[in-house]
Amino acid sequence: MSLDLDKRQRAMLREMGVRLWQPPPAAGSADAPPAIDSVADNARLTGAETRFVAEPAQPPAAASMPAVRPPQVAPAPAARAPAPSAPAPGLAPRPAGIELMAWPALQAAVAGCRACALCASRKNTVFGAGPEAGASAPVVDWLIVGEAPGENEDLAGEPFVGQAGKLLDNMLLAMRLQRGNADALRPGLANHVFITNVLKCRPPANRNPDPAEVAQCEPYLKRQVELLQPKMILALGKFAAQSLLQDSVPDVQKIPLGKLRGQLHSYLGVPVVVTYHPAYLLRSLGDKAKAWDDLCLALSAFKS
Ligand code: URA
Repeated sequence: MSLDLDKRQRAMLREMGVRLWQPPPAAGSADAPPAIDSVADNARLTGAETRFVAEPAQPPAAASMPAVRPPQVAPAPAARAPAPSAPAPGLAPRPAGIELMAWPALQAAVAGCRACALCASRKNTVFGAGPEAGASAPVVDWLIVGEAPGENEDLAGEPFVGQAGKLLDNMLLAMRLQRGNADALRPGLANHVFITNVLKCRPPANRNPDPAEVAQCEPYLKRQVELLQPKMILALGKFAAQSLLQDSVPDVQKIPLGKLRGQLHSYLGVPVVVTYHPAYLLRSLGDKAKAWDDLCLALSAFKS
């Protein structure tokens, strides 16, 4: 995938104070996405709060370009302690054999999971969203991992359908990606992306995931990665970063998210880029430019 940016993306990035570091696409390029000529157009189409733009920040100095820092390879994974064979008190066993399940069985296992107390309060499990899948996992290049379903996602059974989801969709759009099936694709966009969460059930009142819940849910995410075989994982926020990097980054729980950004990590051999959670970006508009840096890092490291 190239970093050719269309007019709309360039307008968005100008608004963010992000300077471009690649030549513009050739005029009349056949694969240019639909013309959205200005950030105002983008706002009209998507809602201003969820645009992937920043408050005009300090214009970056020319010397600070290119925006993408050279990828640093994260330290080699450390040996992992074996998973406990019995669940902790208050937790129930997970379905057996997750590590061997095919995609439909994995979906069914998540739908019926009662391995932690979240099953009592959820309306729906949220397995994830991507291109249509049959007996095999959908074909994707990108895996986006968020934290946990919120109220809207719990009701819909779909990840990222609220305001944070709108912003995520615009982040994907800036990368020329669109979630969903090929028949709904806008011209010039690809749907090779699967979106999921660390937790497949909503924590009540949108509280943070509990470590025991994360541990119970972790094999589902692991199996999703094994079956999807994405070429790049984008970890949104601290819980996704901690869950994916727990085996490769010592004391990852103690490391601020900002320090996990700007480098290539790895999960099961798949490159991982850490960025801010869209819900955080909705409150911290100034960090959208940093999130764009992260997306550029992921795009530049992406091997098609
Ligand atoms: N936040 C998340 O992390 N995931 C969702 O699905 C929705 C909001």
